[in-house]
Amino acid sequence: MHAGQTTLGIDEATLARAAETLRGGGLVAFPTETVYGLGANALAPTAVARIFEAKARPHFDPLIVHVAEVAEARRLTTHWPDIARALADAFWPGPMTLVLPKQSIVPDLVTAGLATVALRIPAHPVALALLRAAERPVAAPSANRFGGVSPTTAAHVQDELGKQVDMVLDGGACQTGVESTVISLVEAGPPRVLRLGGLAVERIEQVVGEVAIAKPQAAGREAEQRGQQSPGMLERHYAPRTPLWLVERRANFPSEAHHESGQKFKVGMLIFGRSAGDVKSDPRNREYEIAAVESLSATGDVVEAAANLFAAMRRLDALGLDGIVAERVPDKGLGRAINDRLRRAATR
Ligand code: TXA
Ligand code: MG
Repeated sequence: MHAGQTTLGIDEATLARAAETLRGGGLVAFPTETVYGLGANALAPTAVARIFEAKARPHFDPLIVHVAEVAEARRLTTHWPDIARALADAFWPGPMTLVLPKQSIVPDLVTAGLATVALRIPAHPVALALLRAAERPVAAPSANRFGGVSPTTAAHVQDELGKQVDMVLDGGACQTGVESTVISLVEAGPPRVLRLGGLAVERIEQVVGEVAIAKPQAAGREAEQRGQQSPGMLERHYAPRTPLWLVERRANFPSEAHHESGQKFKVGMLIFGRSAGDVKSDPRNREYEIAAVESLSATGDVVEAAANLFAAMRRLDALGLDGIVAERVPDKGLGRAINDRLRRAATR
């Protein structure tokens, strides 16, 4: 390790420059344990406005505010119920976002005019070091263009938004690989999971008892007018450009997937719990040409699969195929978040 290099793998000078960029109203993309975030000073509306511009994100979609300490989170809310304390004690830093009533210092642009704010302490040394050095809460959505696949490496961010951001901090590949679980503590009654994510529902329930899980909502103006709760719940989201079919494991490929000429469809497969060789020799798959296979986890481990999901989707998307066929994973633990993302990617 040479002089100035920290245990983070990012040198002190780079970190200091990133913090200074945030304080000056700039955009810094940074790693978290879930996905890469596109950060700006959460308390400066002009800085936050640049996030929406860079992502082409509609203004009705509120942002998560990242902080380094629980005390900082509390300062941004008007109410800190016991259940928030219990969840924060159990899962922060970590892939959990809590929605609570907002303090007036949080700009309306951050919360899309809602009276609530989404808060998270990320579990990544680079993110935490940046938040501490910036000495400000940092608003950060996933660092991708709106509706697309979230980035899990610095290269993903560089490719997609490199021109729009002032700096991209490279902290390696994200360990969790799917976005945080968003939990609303605003309504009376049990906590409501607004977005399934990197913290499994089963683990939340171990701490707070049964939770409610919100249904996905329709996109667009209509949803906006209905005053939707969490636009990350949009039906079509997290989507590659290539059409994606979600199938039961080992199911036949959807029959509509043929060219009119009768020519075979060229597809990429996202598989789970089996090997690429197994897929290619499966006689049911002869109807189409398998151009590429991405195995999310050969051993059937949903945690490993979550970590591989978005990078695998991006690699298949880059091949210019006729379609992507994704196998549903078991609906347990992080498998629920994976199926949720695949379902949204598949919605036309
Ligand atoms: O893991 C993550 O959460 C990543 C990293 C960077 O922290 N961030 C992320 O941000 O996924 P984004 O903007 O892609 O998703 C934020 C989600 C959206 O579903 C948004 O609607 C919801 O959080 N959200 C934000 N503020 C909210 C609020 N006040 N009430 C309800 N939902 C809110
Ligand atoms: Mg996002």
